[in-house]
Amino acid sequence: MSKQPKVSTRGAIPPFFVMEVMRAAAEREAAGLEVLHMEVGQPSTGAPKGVLEAAHRALDTDVLGYTGALGIPALRAAIARWYQDRYKVAVPERRVVVTTGSSGAFQLGFLAAFDPGDRVAMASPSYPAYRHTLTAIGVEPVELPTGPEHRFQPTIALLEQLDKPIQGLIVASPANPTGTMLSREELTEIAAWCDANGVRLVSDEIYHGLTYGPEAVTAAEVSETALVVNSFSKYFSMTGWRLGWMVVPDDLIRSVECLAQNLFISAPTLSQAAAVAAFDCTAELDGHVARYARNRQILLEELPKAGFDKLAPADGAFYVYADVSAMTDDSEAFCKRILAETGIACTPGIDFDPARGHHFVRFSFAGSEATIAEAARRLIAWKK
Ligand SMILES: Cc1ncc(COP(=O)(O)O)c(C=O)c1O
Repeated sequence: MSKQPKVSTRGAIPPFFVMEVMRAAAEREAAGLEVLHMEVGQPSTGAPKGVLEAAHRALDTDVLGYTGALGIPALRAAIARWYQDRYKVAVPERRVVVTTGSSGAFQLGFLAAFDPGDRVAMASPSYPAYRHTLTAIGVEPVELPTGPEHRFQPTIALLEQLDKPIQGLIVASPANPTGTMLSREELTEIAAWCDANGVRLVSDEIYHGLTYGPEAVTAAEVSETALVVNSFSKYFSMTGWRLGWMVVPDDLIRSVECLAQNLFISAPTLSQAAAVAAFDCTAELDGHVARYARNRQILLEELPKAGFDKLAPADGAFYVYADVSAMTDDSEAFCKRILAETGIACTPGIDFDPARGHHFVRFSFAGSEATIAEAARRLIAWKK
């Protein structure tokens, strides 16, 4: 008689509901029906021209073997320069670590900074992989329920109300799914609170560059101990290249290096070689941001006419997070209905906030202007 081998409980984490919406949308497309994609959190454009040219050159001239675990020196230097040029912050190259997307950065950073049983707080709603990645490594996610009154961001008051100490705090500015941002003062205060309380600040800066008012502030400017995470996926329009980076505080560099050597060996070599050129492509990339800004304007003007009138301030990123409590108590069924009846794919809030997400829907405006304008027209017609 055979014995059933065990299955780890650590893998028993919730699915990513947006992926399920994407599957339903793909089924609709396979049946020959049109879909207006507002569920995906990724640019509809490819990598900028300069990156593609650099990739071709690398393919022709490079063996593309493993690289050092912390990344190729040329890319680490280019990232350090980016901090100097864009934020006027001196970040030494030794603190820059190239990773397999920001997703790879979170795995390395969380493992280096936290032990099983530690508690790490974050706003709710927020990007679901924070919670799920922490859970998979035995760290307890602590949700800070936020609403419009907090601009969906953690506040010192919310942190002070926690009944037990935390060892980490994740912030994202601009945030997914709400697009809201922390001001320089707020981020500085949060960093100081973390330092005073021995809490590791993790700042997810993946949506930097995608802002529609004041520019985002990097935690590298206001904290020496914060773990700063960024990516080539959003502003740089390179999701599938699976490349990101971290600015690592000095006390974590060696752990991150050993973890990276063992878990990943190195980030994709072709992507690293190509990404060195990304920082010279800002004219093309800023063109995408101008399109997002137009799309954002269309949605902020048109969605209220379709009954979506409680919207989080979309300061940055490419999302509008809508409170749909007046229309449904079940955002998942609601999104399925919208897809079936209008052909628009959007994401139920339960991905981002299991407790209150039944009342929220996220619309991504990363697509073309024509897609967004047509989606707005259809939603208005649908509500009539
Ligand atoms: C807030 C946030 N952080 C991190 C990621 C992960 O991105 P990547 O691994 O492509 O860098 C995403 C992806 O949508 C995100 O929205």
